[in-house]
Amino acid sequence: MSRNSKFLNALSGDVSATPPVWYMRQAGRYLPEYRALRAKAGSFLDLCFDSDLASEVTLQPIRRFDLDAAILFADILLIPHALGRNLRFAEGEGPLLDPVTHETDISGFRETDILSDLSAVFETVTKTRASLPEDKAVIGFAGAPWTVATYMLAGRSMKDPAALRFQYYEHPAFITELIDILTTHTIAYLKAQIDAGADAIQLFDTWAAGLPWPVLDKLSIRPLEKIASALKASRPETPIILFPKGVGEKSIEYAMIGHADGLGIDYGMDPSWARANLSDHVTVQGGLDPLLVVNGGKAMFDAAETLLKLFHDVPYVFNLGHGFVPQTPPENVAALTEFIRGKGR
Ligand code: CP3
Repeated sequence: MSRNSKFLNALSGDVSATPPVWYMRQAGRYLPEYRALRAKAGSFLDLCFDSDLASEVTLQPIRRFDLDAAILFADILLIPHALGRNLRFAEGEGPLLDPVTHETDISGFRETDILSDLSAVFETVTKTRASLPEDKAVIGFAGAPWTVATYMLAGRSMKDPAALRFQYYEHPAFITELIDILTTHTIAYLKAQIDAGADAIQLFDTWAAGLPWPVLDKLSIRPLEKIASALKASRPETPIILFPKGVGEKSIEYAMIGHADGLGIDYGMDPSWARANLSDHVTVQGGLDPLLVVNGGKAMFDAAETLLKLFHDVPYVFNLGHGFVPQTPPENVAALTEFIRGKGR
């Protein structure tokens, strides 16, 4: 890639004096300017589908904190939306969708043209790319097929999504077909994001946690490998980051996916284990407990310093071990970012 971006360089193996930094959920309710635009848009989905507003929201954390990368403002559930699952976000309840329970619910999915329903997303990417300087990267993303499937099967957020594996034991062909359809659509969706201007791609497998082997391999790792290899075959310049949350030592299996450039680690993982076992294969990203940023101060700086020290001699991207929570004070994000940039506590 010709773009001289610290973030993209780290993904291709460069080590710099201080790592590039961006944050999961860097745009969102903890920012007053987000809440203002969100109120103006009406609903969260209206905001996602208005490319001017969504691009503005994407840029808000870059303006405030001068981060190295902007992550597209959208949601992993826009694919189920495009598949006609009646997605809505009820205040205080999180996402609600019409659950898929039968073969007949998914039989039309293969033929569904999701890209025209999602055209606003690609416009958001293009507008964001055009508004950013060369040295800032735009990250496109999608949910991993398994994580998206958990919402489609349950119709909502679950406490223990891994329990849905029971449906796989009962109806293996049905679940396999759903995952396969999502894999195919995700490849097309991400290619379109890259063509619209995304410089890198992240895949979120938030609910990989708790799946036993070999179900994890079948429903999480293999679909991600298929997506990564299809993207690399047609868009070889674009780095791919995987974020399989809560998979512990199984993260090695994700790091070994030959087409992955980066691997996000969650806050439950011992970062020294990650340094010893993952850094030979991929650029590690993240790790900081987002709840440390709520109170900030010494505990936050100490944990950030541990990560900086551990990863100082290997390619590394600073980030959280999951997204910011809404009660995070933006001042603490500013202080953390300055600290990562070597400007002291
Ligand atoms: O800043 C960014 O990270 C970019 C935008 C982004 C959002 N969601 C915006 C959002 C990204 C990358 C996501 C990913 C996402 N969405 C995941 C994977 C990562 C993770 O957090 O585990 C998942 C599982 C979802 C599904 C989802 N979207 C849920 C469960 C919820 C409701 C939870 C909540 O906090 O209300 C959402 C809504 C959502 N997505 C919000 C934002 C800013 C809150 C919407 C609002 O009320 O304004």
